[in-house]
Order: sequence, then structure tokens, then C-alpha cells
Amino acid sequence: MRILIVGCGYVGLELGRRLASSGAEVLGLRRRGDDDGLMAGAGLQAVHGDLTRPEDLEAIPGDFDAVVSTVSSGRGGIDAYHQVYLGGAGNLVDWSRRRRAGRLVWVSSTSVYGQADGSWVTEDSPTAPEEPTSRCLVAAEQAITEGTRSGVVPTQIVRVAGIYGPGRGHLFRQFIAGEARLDPGQSPWMNMIHRDDVASALEAVLHRGEPGRIYNAVDDEPVTRGEFLRYLAQATGLPLAPAAEAGGSVPTRKRGSTNKRVSNGRLREELGWRPRFPTWREGYAEAIAGVVSATRRHDDRKASG
Ligand SMILES: NC(=O)c1ccc[n+]([C@@H]2O[C@H](COP(=O)([O-])OP(=O)(O)OC[C@H]3O[C@@H](n4cnc5c(N)ncnc54)[C@H](OP(=O)(O)O)[C@@H]3O)[C@@H](O)[C@H]2O)c1
Repeated sequence: MRILIVGCGYVGLELGRRLASSGAEVLGLRRRGDDDGLMAGAGLQAVHGDLTRPEDLEAIPGDFDAVVSTVSSGRGGIDAYHQVYLGGAGNLVDWSRRRRAGRLVWVSSTSVYGQADGSWVTEDSPTAPEEPTSRCLVAAEQAITEGTRSGVVPTQIVRVAGIYGPGRGHLFRQFIAGEARLDPGQSPWMNMIHRDDVASALEAVLHRGEPGRIYNAVDDEPVTRGEFLRYLAQATGLPLAPAAEAGGSVPTRKRGSTNKRVSNGRLREELGWRPRFPTWREGYAEAIAGVVSATRRHDDRKASG
């Protein structure tokens, strides 16, 4: 198989490493060359180009059995979302028409579910988010699905929850830095997935997914922010995050103000996907062990003078 990973960053590199080690020829596209060495080490061929520029896509040589987009807008706001996700989705479908790509897998986000009542959501739940950035992701999904509907290219969408893993984990890092705050009122549900499980979910979709189908990629156990912070305090021995002042804002809402529990039933039942880290407890075990041993070393140094 010849596979192109568009926006080959944190997740794309891990996916590419797995695909290359199982014998595929994998090209990874991104704008900058900073991680070309990492890509080469993982068995990928680095290509430089910008998804928002059709001429850059045109310049990529050869045909592809599959294209997977793991592109992200980085820290950009709504304009970057429009350019990268909406513009990028349109560019990829147009390019796939000319290149006859075998299939197109598009990574989206569980933030397309705007539900705020703590309910369970599946791929069949409504996607009517309030956040403009999330609405842009819904529009990008529609552009991708149109690729299947119009017979241009078989497409699949994977809606990914909050990603953590080596070097990543927004709330975990805030907690360790002493910057996390407990919610003053009801704590919202969070949905997470380890990077390696995003990669294995994408592999499952690439190999066994149905054209036109949407899949949620998330672990087995949603957790409230409060319960997660309490777990981290108990597991690391560090102090529990203080409560935010009533009426004050909690400085951790990176992904909007939704409150829902996302089900991975379809990925498990239809594609036989099994996460290596079924919950955040297993997924954070190594990082927590690192914090515990660093704290111990620090305490030992203090005790010895
Ligand atoms: N992080 C989360 O919690 C989360 C949650 C839900 C969904 N997702 C989705 O999961 C996917 C993977 O996320 P990630 O954390 O692996 O993202 P990431 O580490 O930011 O990687 C994305 C890559 O895209 C490249 N890129 C950005 N703009 C580009 C452009 N215009 N043309 C070509 N390449 C471009 C970047 O490299 P250059 O800057 O060198 O171009 C970067 O390496 C993304 O689709 C993201 O939206 C993430």
C-alpha cells in the first residue's frame, strides 16, 4: 500500500510508524522540515507542502491507495480553522478526484457534539455545536462526506476525543504545575484517548472501515474533571487542585463548554478495535510514575541537606 498522511504531526507520525513497519510505503506531508529526521527514523518519507495550497498537493508525486488527514490548525483561531479544516477538506476531495486516491480518512473531533447535558453520544447523535470552531469542523466533515456521496472517493471520518500521551496532556500538565482548578459547581465530563490508540483506531478504519461511515475514537471511560483531578492528587501524592472562586472561570477549558460522554461502541463492535489503554488510569500510569519518582528524588535531596 502507498499511503499519504496529511499533517503528519503527533498522531500522524505514530500512525505512519505503524503503517511503515507493516510494509506500507508512507509519505508524511507538513509545511516545515523540523521533524524530517524523526519521520525518516520512523520509516516515512517527508514531503513539504501546505494543504491550503492546491498547487502544493499537485506537486506530490504518484498515486495513493489511501490518504489520511491528521492535520491540525495548531493554536490558530477561527480563521485558521476555516483555512486548514474547511479549505483543506475541499482541497483534498478535489485532489482525490484528479489522483483517484483509493480512500480518504479524515480526522475530526468529538467537539462536533455540542451536547451540554452530560448525556451519552454516539455517531448518530446530532452535531449542532455552538462554538464557531466546532461548527467549522462540522462543515469540513460535510465536505468530506460529499466526496463519498458524489462518488469521487470513499471517505471515512474519525471523531477523536482529547488526545494525551508522551509529552501531551493539557489538564495533567496544569495539575503538575499547580495551575489546575476544581470547578466551583458541577464538574463536566471529559473524554480522552491515548495517542497510540488514536493511531490504532485509524489503522482499523483504514483496513476495515465502511465507506461513508463515521467512527468515534475515545477510550472506554469518560471522567468528570473533578474526579480526574482527585485521581491525579491521590496517585501522585501532590496536593489536590484548589477550587476556582465561585463565578470565576476555570482556566482549563481548551475545548469549549460541552458536557457529554462519547461512546466508542461502533469502533469496538463493527471494527473489533480494542484500545491498549482502556482508560486514562492505564494511559497516565507511566507519566504518574515519573512524577512520583521525581518527587521522591527531590524529597531525598532536601532530606540529605
Ligand atoms: N489534540 C487534541 O486533543 C485533539 C482532539 C480532537 C481531535 N484532534 C485532531 O487530531 C488530529 C491530530 O492531532 P495532532 O495532535 O497530531 O496534531 P499536531 O501534532 O498539531 O499535528 C498536525 C500537523 O499538521 C501540520 N500542518 C498544519 N497545518 C498544515 C498545512 N496547512 N498543511 C500541511 N500540514 C499542516 C503541522 O506541521 P507544520 O506546522 O510543519 O505544517 C503538524 O505537524 C488533528 O486533526 C486534530 O484536529 C486533536
